[in-house]
Amino acid sequence: MSRVRRCLTSGTPKPVGADALGVIRDERDKAKHRGGEHIMSDVSIIGSGNMASAIGALALKGGNAVEIVGRDAAKAAALARALGDGATAGTWGAAPGGDIVILAVLFDSAVPVVSQFGDALEGKIIVDITNPFNPSVTGLAIPDDTSIAQMVAKAAPASARVVKAFNTIFRDVLAAGGPLDVFMAGDDAQAKASVSAFIKSLGLRPQDAGGLTMAHWLEGAGLLSVGLARNGVGSLNFSLGVNFG
Ligand SMILES: NC(=O)c1ccc[n+]([C@@H]2O[C@H](COP(=O)([O-])OP(=O)(O)OC[C@H]3O[C@@H](n4cnc5c(N)ncnc54)[C@H](OP(=O)(O)O)[C@@H]3O)[C@@H](O)[C@H]2O)c1
Repeated sequence: MSRVRRCLTSGTPKPVGADALGVIRDERDKAKHRGGEHIMSDVSIIGSGNMASAIGALALKGGNAVEIVGRDAAKAAALARALGDGATAGTWGAAPGGDIVILAVLFDSAVPVVSQFGDALEGKIIVDITNPFNPSVTGLAIPDDTSIAQMVAKAAPASARVVKAFNTIFRDVLAAGGPLDVFMAGDDAQAKASVSAFIKSLGLRPQDAGGLTMAHWLEGAGLLSVGLARNGVGSLNFSLGVNFG
């Protein structure tokens, strides 16, 4: 897959942790009252790689507060600085500041990471964006009757709600922005409504595929995208979508 990285710009170091996210929220709430600004969500992103960067940049542009949480604290802080105003770096393993927590790690670390965070994810909406591809990217590296999202739901606290989303969009296409369809799946209607609002704030169009069992097929759609990129389409510069005709 393409690994074209965005050009990171340096910025002023940001305060670290959930308290800092609260400060940003308070300031933005004041701004909302002053200027009618519409604040969408407080979002934490676990992971500080390509997808964290792309989603974080769109989220900030859409008026959300963004917390980057990485196992490598220096890398997370660097990404938060590069993203600019409204981005902070959180603490690995601590309760994320955001109500929505985007799991932007490699698929085989998704369950271990959620287990490691444990009760810190109580009550959170966990958005799993991972693609469990086998090494040759010709099949899924999971059993037929499940998905990484369902495995994450089993590992997460009972009060957390898991939504699969974003996995069918290549990073560079996402970074370029909408209009794009973001397929999602999950069992909790309220959580999906929150994730839909977040997706809309990014200038993208949420498309609900149904309950969390559909995550298996969304993960398959991620594989389909790679097959199309390697064959008929011949490039990564496309994304799957629906046409209302
Ligand atoms: N790239 C795409 O086009 C694309 C599109 C859709 C979905 N996805 C999915 O999105 C996820 C992230 O992809 P990406 O392109 O952002 O990958 P990436 O640039 O390689 O970033 C992966 C992130 O996961 C972290 N990580 C890896 N192993 C870990 C572990 N054992 N414990 C904790 N953190 C770990 C890495 O931390 P370090 O920096 O410390 O190594 C890094 O922050 C993947 O699951 C991928 O399948 C990717």
